[in-house]
Amino acid sequence: MKKNILITLVILTTITLIGRGSLLTGLCNNKNDYIEKETRSEASYLMLANKDNPLDTNYKPDNMVKPKIQFLKNSTNEEKQMTKEAAIAIGELFKSAKNDNIKLIGTSAYRSYRTQISIFNKNVKEKGVDYANNYVALPGKSEHQTGLAIDVTNESRCFDKTSIEAQWLANNAHKFGFILRYPEGKEDITGYNYEPWHVRYVGKVVAAEIYKNNWTLEEYLEINN
Ligand code: DAL
Ligand code: ZN
Repeated sequence: MKKNILITLVILTTITLIGRGSLLTGLCNNKNDYIEKETRSEASYLMLANKDNPLDTNYKPDNMVKPKIQFLKNSTNEEKQMTKEAAIAIGELFKSAKNDNIKLIGTSAYRSYRTQISIFNKNVKEKGVDYANNYVALPGKSEHQTGLAIDVTNESRCFDKTSIEAQWLANNAHKFGFILRYPEGKEDITGYNYEPWHVRYVGKVVAAEIYKNNWTLEEYLEINN
């Protein structure tokens, strides 16, 4: 009889331990799922769109919102959209600029594949094919289509590197998770001429690293992938 009770106890203890084991395994699995999601989310704002890495014709970020910043009067509603994280970050960047008496104005953020066709063609017509190839991405190859980039300007609409607004942006964008995507001297890597007005959201950690090392996104991804 005692032997039977002992066997029953051993069986019950074993079942309990196996149960706890699977519960713990379950928690670990949940944790892994969470980490994978985090990594995916981070990866999405490190996506590369350039002359060698085109996006799908139909690619459109699904979580876009209108940033709380001033845009030019003639900016379209489509251009006044960014992915949520980038929109929040650009709002903070503009607010900080304002606190430093720097007035920035948004011109163009998200652009669809179709819009990029019109912009490229317009530039070819008005400024020639060489200009267009150096300053405007072909449809599918523009990171404006990612919803993570925005062009900014100032009141005088003269946003070159001598303007205080462009200098402020170059010195501070990384603090809000943005990089100057087409820096001077890196034309061979980015495939485009220097654009002091075009910033791209990559998150604060990566932006700080890119800024510190004077890298482009291509260089960062080459080293970190
Ligand atoms: N100006 C950049 C290269 C674009 O058109 O996406
Ligand atoms: Zn741009």
